Amino acid sequence: MISFVPLSLPPSADPTKFRDFGIEVRGVHPGELTDEQFKQIEQALYKHDLVLFRGIELSPEQQHRLVKAFDPDSENFGHGDRAIENTQRSILHSYLRGLPAVPQVQVIGHGTVKDHEGIPELTMKHGRHPEFHKTRISEEDESKGFTRFFRWHMDAALYDLKPSRVTALYGIKVPVAPLQTIRYDDGTGDELTVNVGSTAFVSGKTMFEILPPELKSLAVRAKAKYAPHPFQWMKNAKAISTGFGLETEGLEVPLDQLPAWEDAKIKIYPFLWKNPVTGALHLQVHPCAIMEIHVDPLPEGRDSAGALYPSGGKITDLKQIRELLYCMQRPGIDPSLVYAHPWEAKDLVLFHNRGLMHSVTGVFKPDQVRLFHQCNLAASDEPVGPSQEDIERWA
Ligand SMILES: [Fe+2]
Repeated sequence: MISFVPLSLPPSADPTKFRDFGIEVRGVHPGELTDEQFKQIEQALYKHDLVLFRGIELSPEQQHRLVKAFDPDSENFGHGDRAIENTQRSILHSYLRGLPAVPQVQVIGHGTVKDHEGIPELTMKHGRHPEFHKTRISEEDESKGFTRFFRWHMDAALYDLKPSRVTALYGIKVPVAPLQTIRYDDGTGDELTVNVGSTAFVSGKTMFEILPPELKSLAVRAKAKYAPHPFQWMKNAKAISTGFGLETEGLEVPLDQLPAWEDAKIKIYPFLWKNPVTGALHLQVHPCAIMEIHVDPLPEGRDSAGALYPSGGKITDLKQIRELLYCMQRPGIDPSLVYAHPWEAKDLVLFHNRGLMHSVTGVFKPDQVRLFHQCNLAASDEPVGPSQEDIERWA
């Protein structure tokens, strides 16, 4: 019998902000769902944005089939099968590798494993903030268990391919280790205690809902234009201390020095993505990959007092773009709004990739082995933005 149980929240989480977010499913195997059961899981995913199964044995084929069921016309891994392996220049290269038999399923983790799913030997690297952030926690403090978020994002190539609807993360080997404390290091003193290697999630819906009216009005009218080959464009740039965006130091690769790109493959997406089941608006902007903001004017006849960009406009200054976006997104990663999943082996997390943002956390020791399978598929359609009604309501 399929049953839905609320997620256990950490003491740091504000339960009033997690009423809809996250659900645990019991009583069914996610690799053996009937059509009827799949429909229930699909509804739950869009309603709760994160669905957890525990104690599951899941083959790569089952994982791929499950993810594909959310988008039957999707075909390839969200960044293109093998596309990352073939481009040493992408910043994602060191973290992702496809399985030989099911290339849509990526192996991620830390340490060395032998003879895994047809790969004789594989050394993985868990993303660590010192390799990506401009500043770092001292080695001494790191050894005492302090760390940071790595890079907040949704799983999307943001050039040519369409952002996947769902990501499935499956924990195979999960090291047991003490708690670590994430520092925000942005002057707020904010900290968050998590299990080592937790994946941190925040709701894009909550991120929108807690904004003041003038930023809601901007969000509902704004679009993000992403850089061509954004992960190569940003490869030299360094992140700010919360991992939610980049420092602006002119380190992006000039557009004419990137591999060949076409205008038609550049992505311009609304800031707000509409949930296909609940109709809610989720603030979904990749803070590292954005290159321009395009703002529509206020609807006709609207009082422009206090409105930001009432006549619309195009913002092309990277520093200005990042500062404005950070004002909109930073409230959404307040420690009380973060769900950091404490992984156990055989956990399967399905998340609504168009409804939340996530980040790797933590630091593993060289001899700790973590092994995960991840699957997401470039979607068959683009995210849908706010409706006319949404614009009338929030602009
Ligand atoms: Fe991810």
